[in-house]
Amino acid sequence: MKIIEPNSSAEFEQYYNLRYEVLRKPWLQPKGSEKDDGDKSSIHRMIIDESNGKAVAVGRLQFNTSEEAQIRYMAVSDNYQLKGYGNIIVKTLEDIALNKGIRNIILQARENALKFYWKNGYEIIEKSYLLFDEIQHWLMVKKITTD
Ligand SMILES: CC(C)(COP(=O)(O)OP(=O)(O)OC[C@H]1O[C@@H](n2cnc3c(N)ncnc32)[C@H](O)[C@@H]1OP(=O)(O)O)[C@@H](O)C(=O)NCCC(=O)NCCS
Repeated sequence: MKIIEPNSSAEFEQYYNLRYEVLRKPWLQPKGSEKDDGDKSSIHRMIIDESNGKAVAVGRLQFNTSEEAQIRYMAVSDNYQLKGYGNIIVKTLEDIALNKGIRNIILQARENALKFYWKNGYEIIEKSYLLFDEIQHWLMVKKITTD
């Protein structure tokens, strides 16, 4: 496994495709719904399985203010879930935020992922919105430090 920043169009195709397969397709959402305007100004990371060249996990860090970043679009391929790849993406994005002087990370957790983020040190602030009329989200926050 290796973690990369997608750069080439082939890498971005894999990146967005994994987002689509995990976060959109199961709810019959159209192709294209896995992208948004914030993609250009955000930082992206992707884990590749070197044995077959396939994308295994993806995540994005978006900068809300000079003090706050947001982790979004976390997705791990079905067969690779619960093997620690989500943890690696979160930790990598947090390190990037730290290096930019950011100390506050927020995210909107799907209900099924609450425990994952809680294990990564995130705390619930409040119940937030319902996506596709069924996926409850929760606003979570973590203060990050260099030690
Ligand atoms: C949620 C998700 C990103 C987590 O990534 P992952 O690679 O499967 O998780 P990890 O293997 O890194 O898990 C880290 C820890 O969280 C726990 N965890 C992960 N997902 C969990 C879940 N759904 N329920 C309970 N615990 C979970 C793991 O057991 C592990 O705990 P441990 O450190 O005590 O062993 C991934 O499962 C996924 O893509 N799910 C579907 C899409 C999704 O919901 N994305 C989040 C949108 S907000």
